[in-house]
Amino acid sequence: METRGAAPSYPALVGSGLVVNAGQEVAKRVRCPRCAVISDTNIAPLLADRVKQSLTSSGFRSTLITISAGEKSKTLEQAGAICDQMIDAGFDRQSFVIGLGGGVVGDLSGFVAAIFHRGIPHVQIPTTLLAMVDSSIGGKTGVNTAAGKNLIGAIHHPVLVIDDVDVLKTLPQREFNQGFAEIIKHAIISDAEMFAALKDVDLENLAPLIRRNVEIKSRIIAKDESDRTGERAILNFGHTVGHAIERAGDYQEFLHGEAIGLGIVAACDVSIKRAGLLRDQRNGIVDLLRRFELPTHLPPNFPREKIFEAMPFDKKFESGEVRFVVTPRIGSAHLSSDVTMEDIREAVD
Ligand SMILES: NC(=O)c1ccc[n+]([C@@H]2O[C@H](COP(=O)([O-])OP(=O)(O)OC[C@H]3O[C@@H](n4cnc5c(N)ncnc54)[C@H](O)[C@@H]3O)[C@@H](O)[C@H]2O)c1
Ligand SMILES: [Zn+2]
Repeated sequence: METRGAAPSYPALVGSGLVVNAGQEVAKRVRCPRCAVISDTNIAPLLADRVKQSLTSSGFRSTLITISAGEKSKTLEQAGAICDQMIDAGFDRQSFVIGLGGGVVGDLSGFVAAIFHRGIPHVQIPTTLLAMVDSSIGGKTGVNTAAGKNLIGAIHHPVLVIDDVDVLKTLPQREFNQGFAEIIKHAIISDAEMFAALKDVDLENLAPLIRRNVEIKSRIIAKDESDRTGERAILNFGHTVGHAIERAGDYQEFLHGEAIGLGIVAACDVSIKRAGLLRDQRNGIVDLLRRFELPTHLPPNFPREKIFEAMPFDKKFESGEVRFVVTPRIGSAHLSSDVTMEDIREAVD
């Protein structure tokens, strides 16, 4: 089944058993004969052979490039090293890139595809729930620098996204759960029906849920392709405080989705005060986060001051003015400029 993505429209295939047919699907959309499959040290041993075999049987020549697993690999140096490897291996304009992995591989491989010979096609095969419902959609690619995350990058949409739910079976539980933070976020900002259905979600049959989340993110992005008008900003619900918590924990204490879970709770408390969110709805959100084992309270000894120190660097604090995403009720969200630092302090406390 195909889900039409944002303009420029590209298909996101969601289903079971798709990896072994990746070559066939790619062949329908990509004419280039050579492919760099970029993956990481955890995923390559699990999946790379199957993807490469499938590419070979569809007539592609592929080269596997494996990076160390983890956020530390998302650097300009790593992107440069991959480009050099591709040049040494004889890749040219008639090549394309497949990112086989989580958000780290997706962002890095997409960035390589954006800059190699000024842009070659990118195919995403996301292998984490977070990457399927979030990072593989929208075309944002990039790397981190010493000064912060995702500061260098490009918008480069994939030509195809292949979400094979079978690959999620090997995903560690914590990684799986963190994907639900973004799913719950999508529900809060734009889909009350999905929110209600989430408490009975069938974990054995995730394709419909993933498809729905791809649609939600694509729809929001289609309204604000280049991230300029502010519509896309509602996707940052829970992220202002969430990012600051991530940074305050030196990116060690919490996974992204876990920090976002906490950020969502803070954003709900701000929303009660500034947007009229009902306390019952806020409590329903907290219950749902708990159901997926996401934290909803900061540990007592967590350095709270560091959260606020981390805040002014956040992209959303444009020119010192806080623009905060609030939800007046589940299924809806908007930007508010009424929110003060004091509101955020109260929510964090
Ligand atoms: N481009 C965007 O719009 C966007 C949006 C959200 C997040 N991101 C980025 O995504 C990244 C986080 O993505 P992530 O959470 O997927 O992290 P990740 O890519 O580091 O993957 C998490 C861990 O799971 C392992 N793994 C992945 N798939 C597996 C599988 N199927 N089986 C076993 N292990 C597996 C990985 O090797 C890694 O150790 C961050 O860099 C973030 O900035 C980008
Ligand atoms: Zn996020």
